[in-house]
Amino acid sequence: MKIIKTIRELRTELALQKEAGKTVGFVPTMGYLHEGHLTLIKNARQENDLVVLSIFVNPIQFGPKEDLAAYPRDFERDCALAECEQVDLLFYPSVKEMYPNPLTVKAAVQQRTDVLCGKSRPGHFDGVATVITKLFNIVMPTRAYFGKKDAQQVAVIEGLIADFNFPIELVAVDTVRETDGLAKSSRNVNLLPLEREQAPILYKSLLAANAAINRGENNPIEITNTIKDMISKDTSGEIDYVEIYSYPQLQPVETVAGRVIIALAVKFTKARLIDNLIIDID
Ligand code: PAJ
Repeated sequence: MKIIKTIRELRTELALQKEAGKTVGFVPTMGYLHEGHLTLIKNARQENDLVVLSIFVNPIQFGPKEDLAAYPRDFERDCALAECEQVDLLFYPSVKEMYPNPLTVKAAVQQRTDVLCGKSRPGHFDGVATVITKLFNIVMPTRAYFGKKDAQQVAVIEGLIADFNFPIELVAVDTVRETDGLAKSSRNVNLLPLEREQAPILYKSLLAANAAINRGENNPIEITNTIKDMISKDTSGEIDYVEIYSYPQLQPVETVAGRVIIALAVKFTKARLIDNLIIDID
């Protein structure tokens, strides 16, 4: 595995490989790798000749009051994990390398961001779309891998690829969970011990909602109330949102039908957790 810190060096390396006709799988991350990221890498490894992993904590997708400084980092551990997964090129640029000057142009996401995390994190998806545009232009992969854990991000990137004509296949990978159901996240380490014990309730509440839908419940208010009740009764977290939308359009639904996303965000003392289920109802 080669560790590459500059755009120029990465481009040179990739040009050589592409000349040889190799397909490139790209996994963008902010590091502090866990099983979720590693599953994206494993998928990329299976489906491409060359695997590029990027680790870059993108400052422009964090709001002024968000956890940029507290975002966990461990580059040495990440390198060892990436090596084990047979990553070919690890792109690890500095902030100065990615943003040498204040941006003159920034991507402005027009749809799918006025709800869920986009609503509680204004500007977040513009920052994501901007860095992903830069990374796509630098790496020019055949396929790019994203996790369904961040389902709104997948919906936004799907729009970015279509609207900006990137010749890239988006591969959305299922959420990887702890054995107790908690979605794996770099932020889980910031949970206090009691909060960590309570956190699996988030997924359990989504499963309870799914069960209610399977029994015929189709009123989104009833369903989200079931989830909210479980979370407020059994955790000390503060509910940011529990909502149901069509997917990937992220439009409100009056009755739960077709493909929908049930998504939630809960704030604990030092970590805000998100989770979702995407379900198809006949
Ligand atoms: P990060 O939070 O590091 O996540 C990198 C990728 O891993 C994302 O596509 C995310 O959805 C996926 N992922 C995280 N936890 C997962 C889990 N439990 N199961 C499956 N996939 C999971 O998302 C970002 O970074 C950034 O916004 C980024 C896209 C890199 C742009 O800066």
